[in-house]
Amino acid sequence: MTGRSQRQFFDSRASDWEHHCYPQEVRERLAGLVPEFGLAPGARVLDVGTGPGVLIPYLRRAVGPAGRICSFDLSLPMVRQARRKPLLEQDLVLQADAHHLPFDADIFDNVVCFAAFPHFDDPALALFEMVRVARPGARVVIAHLLSREELARHHGGHAAVADDILPDAERMQALFRQAGLGDPRIEDRPGRYLATGGKR
Ligand SMILES: C[S@@+](CC[C@H](N)C(=O)[O-])C[C@H]1O[C@@H](n2cnc3c(N)ncnc32)[C@H](O)[C@@H]1O
Repeated sequence: MTGRSQRQFFDSRASDWEHHCYPQEVRERLAGLVPEFGLAPGARVLDVGTGPGVLIPYLRRAVGPAGRICSFDLSLPMVRQARRKPLLEQDLVLQADAHHLPFDADIFDNVVCFAAFPHFDDPALALFEMVRVARPGARVVIAHLLSREELARHHGGHAAVADDILPDAERMQALFRQAGLGDPRIEDRPGRYLATGGKR
C-alpha cells in the first residue's frame, strides 16, 4: 500500500539510519520516553515499524528476559538491520505490513508504534490492526521524539515523506475511539508526541 518512493527512501537508508538519526543526545531522550510506554517485566510487546530495530534494546530493558519482543517493518533492508540486534529465542523480527498484520487477535500486552505512524497509507486500518492484535486492556502507543508540528517540518525536508504527517488531535482521538481504544490521551509538545489508549 505504501508508495514506491517512500519505500525506496527507507530501503536505501536502512544501513546508516541508526547512525544518522540516533546520536547520543537523541538516545538519551529515547531512554526518557520508553518508560511512558507502560511496559511491565514479562510483557509481550509488538514493535510496529521497527526500522533497524532502534527500540529493541530499550524494550528489552523494560520487559526483561521473560518478555517477548515482536518487531516488524515493511522494508526488508530495515528488517535485516533489526535482526542484528541482541534478540532472545522468544523474540521475532519479521517483514510485515502494518495494514495486514500476520498475527492472531488479542495476543500482545503492549503495542508500540515509534516514529512510524505518519508513514502508513491508511492510518485507520493500521490502528485497527494494532488494536486487533492487542489483548483487551492492553495499551497502544504512538510515539515520536518530536511534536506533531516539528515532525511535519522535519518530513517536509524530504520529498518522499513530505506528506507524511500525524493526524491532528481531534482526528487522532476519533481514530483511537473508532479502533476500539478507550480514554485516548495525546501529549504533543516540543520534543515529544505521545498518543495512548487502552483496548476496551
Ligand atoms: C521513520 S522510520 C522509523 C523506524 C524506527 N521506528 C526508528 O525510529 O528508527 C519509519 C519506518 O516505517 C516503516 N514503514 C512504512 N510503512 C510501513 C508499513 N505499511 N508497515 C510497516 N512498516 C512500515 C518504514 O519502512 C520505516 O522503517
